[in-house]
This record gives sequence, C-alpha cells and structure tokens, in this order.
Amino acid sequence: MTNKQNDTSITSRKVAQTILLAVLKDGQSLSSLTHLTDNIEPRDAAFARMLSFGVLRFYQQLQGLLKPYIKKALKSKDLDIQLVMLMAIYQIMHTRVPDFAVVDSAVKQVRKSRKKWAANMVNGVLRNFLRDIEGKEPEDVINELTSEEACFAHPQWIIDSLKQDWPDSWQKILAANNQQAPMTLRVNQQQTSVDEFIQALEKDSEVSAEQVPGLPSAAILQQARDVKQLPGFSKGWFSVQDAGAQFAALIMQPAAGDKILDACAAPGGKTAHMFELQPDVQITALDISESRLKRVEENCQRLGFNPTLVAADARAVDNWWQGELFDKILLDVPCSAMGVIRRHPDIKSLRREDDIEALVQLQREILLKNWDLLKPGGQLLYVTCSLLKAENEQQIEWFLEQVDDVVSEELPDVITQFKSQSPVSHGVQLFPVDGVTDGFFYALLKKSK
Ligand SMILES: C[S@@+](CC[C@H](N)C(=O)[O-])C[C@H]1O[C@@H](n2cnc3c(N)ncnc32)[C@H](O)[C@@H]1O
Repeated sequence: MTNKQNDTSITSRKVAQTILLAVLKDGQSLSSLTHLTDNIEPRDAAFARMLSFGVLRFYQQLQGLLKPYIKKALKSKDLDIQLVMLMAIYQIMHTRVPDFAVVDSAVKQVRKSRKKWAANMVNGVLRNFLRDIEGKEPEDVINELTSEEACFAHPQWIIDSLKQDWPDSWQKILAANNQQAPMTLRVNQQQTSVDEFIQALEKDSEVSAEQVPGLPSAAILQQARDVKQLPGFSKGWFSVQDAGAQFAALIMQPAAGDKILDACAAPGGKTAHMFELQPDVQITALDISESRLKRVEENCQRLGFNPTLVAADARAVDNWWQGELFDKILLDVPCSAMGVIRRHPDIKSLRREDDIEALVQLQREILLKNWDLLKPGGQLLYVTCSLLKAENEQQIEWFLEQVDDVVSEELPDVITQFKSQSPVSHGVQLFPVDGVTDGFFYALLKKSK
C-alpha cells in the first residue's frame, strides 16, 4: 500500500470513527450525520460510510469477537480506541481488504491520534485475533461465538421480542436485518413509466434495475448510486423509497377531489406518491417536526405538488384542525422501526426496550384523536415500519375495542399478494426476509357511521 493510499484510508477511518462516536456516545442517528462526509473525496466518503454502517450493522458480533482479547475493560472515554479495533475486526471479517493492511492502518490511526499509548495494545489485540482465526472461514468464527447477541448481531431484547412474536421465522428476520438493503426507487408515473425509466437508467447511468412484479412504480437498482447521477432527479422523474413503503398510496387509492390527511407526513414520501397517483386531491401533510416538514415541502416541490403543510402534534387536534372532516386519513405513525434495520443499522444501538411501551401509547393517542377527523364511510390506513405485534395487530385489536363505529377492512389485492406465511389477525405484515421490501405493517379501518 502506498503512503497516499494509507493517508486516504486514515482520513476515511477517522471520519468513520467520528460518525460512530456520534451515534454510540451522543445518541445521534446515522441519517443526521451525512454532512460529516460532505467535505472529503467521494471515494473516502464511500469508505467511511461503508465502515460506519458495517460496524453498526455487526456491532454486537464485533464486540463478542473483540472481548476475549481485552484483558482490562477500556474506560468509556476510550470508546474511540475500541472503535478502531471494531472497525478493523469488521474489515477482517466482512471485507476483502488484506488483513495486514487493516492492522497497519488501525495502528497508524492510533499513532497519529492523541492516544499514542494505545498503539501497541491495538497492534497486539489485532495480531492475536488474526492468529486465532487463521485458516478459518468467517462463518466458522461466528459459529463459535456463544452469546446470542454476538451470533445474531442484535441486542438481546430485540432477539427476544422477535422470537416471541415470530417463533418460526425470527432467525430469518435477524439474518435479513444484517443484509444491506437494495436502493429502491419509486418512479413518478405523472412523468414517465417504469419501463421507460429503467431504459434511461441503463443508457445514461449504466445501472441495471429490476421491476417488482405487482408494484407498478418500483425499480430496484443493482447498485446504489448518488441520486444526482441518475437521470431526471431534478425533473422529478423518481424518488428513493423502499418497495414496502409504496403500498401506502396504492391502498389509499386517492380519488379526484378527495380531502386527505397525512398526519405523520415527513419527509413526505407517501404524500408525494398519493399526488403521483391522483394530482387532483387536497392533502394536508402534518408533522410534529418543523425541520422534517421542510423536507416534505422540498420533496413535493421537486415533484411539482403542493400539499397544505401543518407543523403540529397529531394528538393536539384542537391546535390546528379547521373543522372539516377528511375523506381519507393516512397514519404512518412513529414506531420502533424494527422493520427497517437493514437500512438503518444504528437502530440496533439507539433503540431501547423501554421505548416500545411509550411508542405504543403515542400510537394509540394518535389513532384515537385522528379517528374523529374522518368522515362517516371514510377510510383510515394505519402503517408502521415495525415487526412487533404490540405496535401492529395488537394496536388494531385494541382500537376495535375502543370505538363502536369502526370496521377492519380487507386490504386490496395489490398488497395481499405479498402476504407472508405468518398470518396476522388484522391487516398485512411485510417482512424484510425476501430482500424485496422492508418490514411494514398495514391495516385499513373504515368508519361505519
Ligand atoms: C414513519 S415517519 C413518517 C414517514 C412519512 N410518512 C413518509 O412516508 O415519508 C413518522 C413521522 O411522525 C412524526 N411524528 C412523531 N410524533 C408525532 C406526533 N405526535 N404528531 C405528528 N407527527 C409525529 C415524525 O416526526 C416522523 O416524521
């Protein structure tokens, strides 16, 4: 490896370390840290992203692998040093970078830091680790791990929750969560068709994409690309959106003249999709976060749509509602996001078991308050990107007991064809296991009177 390559690798490693510290020490989300890679070379930025996503994706496993080599536990102020070792073990186990180059870069990174004292320790730990795994395949090394957390690379409470809810498929779900999600686009059918768009992609950007049978607007790219390198982004030809999220607008079936409330709208993916299906609708896009609502505005502007934007708490209806009932309501409620871990691996480290009960209460309040804003005969679509029954089918069971003017409706064929083998009492649960969609839950409720 030349000196120049080494410097490049150290720049990316330092940025990755900063990102990881921000997530693990300060509790920030990966998606709020993209600016940290803005001012470095694109190649370094890609490498830093690969390292930080990789370490978070396999965090519990990497910790399990490192632990036997650390004689005296490191102090919490030395998390930065621990991260250098975790990044190296990630590279050794999950990438093709030669082992000697990984150890060399890790030790150099520490030597160039203010903690030179740790360089020999890092060198010793990584060399001992390499010696012990010599000649073994990574899968064999992982199979020798004894704790479930380390084997499945998830915190124990998530493993236990999924085991309880999905006793036949929890292992498949955990394995799927550890895969990298594909980059999936939603093609704006007001502008172009999926066929035409895929042809333009192949011609202009040399990226192949596949359609998802039964989902008219989805294109799954074979390799992820910066959206600005793909044809027609500024012209609004497409948006980035997981295939599983694209069912919301299809189930809502916006009809000309409909008044629709999207009560947890930011960043606006589902709002925009409803407009794409039927531009002649009035959509109120509400979100509690003003900064996230700005993204609804930007996304809709790029696509040429104009929702009514409201920054408010969906529970505090009296603060914003003008008294006119809605034909349809979309509640894409805040949730544990257990279904999108493959896209957001930081969830494994940031989400706490205690959060679930608070989220369940919040979802119930949002459901109850917004039900009153629906016209008799109107439909409300309840959506989460969770896999936990407490946030999904059990919420619907609870709601059916709370009000007497509700009917749980069958969902349309467009989604039932994706129904999994694991039945739910209401709605449809999608899982990330087949690689096509993230995990989503959909339930449709009709106001009977
Ligand atoms: C799952 S995201 C919505 C994604 C969005 N529907 C889309 O497709 O782009 C949930 C949203 O709920 C918002 N939220 C959380 N608590 C809320 C509340 N009490 N009232 C309104 N919005 C809330 C969050 O700010 C977040 O933007």
